[in-house]
Amino acid sequence: MLAIPGPSRQNLGPIMSDLPLRSTIIGAGHYVPTKVVTNDDLAKLMTTSDEWIQQRSGIKERRFIEHDDIGASDLALPAAKMAIEHAGLQAKDIDAIIFATLSPDYNFPGSGVLLGNLLGLNGVPALDVRNQCSGFLYSLSVADAWVRAGVYKNVLIAGAEVHSTGIELADRGRDVAVLFGDGAGCAIVSRATDPNQGIKALRLHADGVGARDLMVEYPRSRRIPRITKELLDEGVHYPKMVGKQVFRWAVEKMPEVAQQVMDEAKLSVDDLDLFVPHQANMRINQMVGMKLNIPQEKIVHNIEKYGNTTAATIPLGLSEAWREGRCKRGSNILMAAFGAGYTWGGAVITL
Ligand code: UT7
Repeated sequence: MLAIPGPSRQNLGPIMSDLPLRSTIIGAGHYVPTKVVTNDDLAKLMTTSDEWIQQRSGIKERRFIEHDDIGASDLALPAAKMAIEHAGLQAKDIDAIIFATLSPDYNFPGSGVLLGNLLGLNGVPALDVRNQCSGFLYSLSVADAWVRAGVYKNVLIAGAEVHSTGIELADRGRDVAVLFGDGAGCAIVSRATDPNQGIKALRLHADGVGARDLMVEYPRSRRIPRITKELLDEGVHYPKMVGKQVFRWAVEKMPEVAQQVMDEAKLSVDDLDLFVPHQANMRINQMVGMKLNIPQEKIVHNIEKYGNTTAATIPLGLSEAWREGRCKRGSNILMAAFGAGYTWGGAVITL
């Protein structure tokens, strides 16, 4: 006889009047490995200098995992615990996990299931998002829709990257290798209880015309075999970037989407308490701030300390700013990101 599944929250569906108007971020957390790698440390491995790296990117140092066998899910674990505690919840209150990363522990399965297992959330759904620098905003959009539709109540978003094992720490890879660092940031998305609170605008964009401007080309499933010894010798498994082209797009698209979400949220720059941009380059964020007339003191920069931690940058920056008292409940936060794909997005949220 066929077993008929019992009712679940999903197949019963929510009662419309119970649905929240908005979702919001109720807690954030972050974690970075303890190993500090300075620009001078990198200059011992490749032809570069502290002066070049700081001038071009604003980066002074970054964190690398301390030893072998630490994955994105391991970095996300303490960040997730911090976010859960910050939200006043316990791990068992999490209904779904979204994990944004371009450096998952394994090719498959995704890092979300690994994090769920580490948190003891066995049976809780886990979705991996592969949208690089805008991965957190894409995840936020999914979590927002889930919460507002009544599918899940408390969604844990993790953004975590282990870049240090995937960059070429030698002259050939120096243009990319000096930019990236390891780290994690997490946020808990839940129902907004105050009518003025919550995600007020969120826009996502993508344009595959730039897909080859920032990519890791191999191993690739469209080639038989996916990788060869010769290709490995050529270094095609390391990320490659047409830096100037990505820069040009970033300084155009980030202000554009930021203005779009501020208009939709009906907020002006004066209403903003904080701008948490993706951290790819200090110069990009300063230019975006100037284009939008956002005073520098309202902009979160942590690229000096951590480099580009890709999907982790926005939740990491938000978590640090929250702890430093730069934002609190009721603060109006603007977020914007641009990166590989190309993918980009923006959000306005009242905490
Ligand atoms: O988060 C994902 C999205 N990523 C971004 O948004 C990054 C966007 N791009 C950028 O931030 C900048 O383009 C970079 C920081 C990557 C590079 O800055 P740039 O001013 O565009 O420099 P460049 O690539 O034009 O390189 C200038 C010079 C070159 O030498 P020549 O050809 O002028 O002789 C490079 O070979 O600097 C050389 N160079 C380096 N020199 C010392 C490249 N990498 C290094 C290095 N150290 N690490």
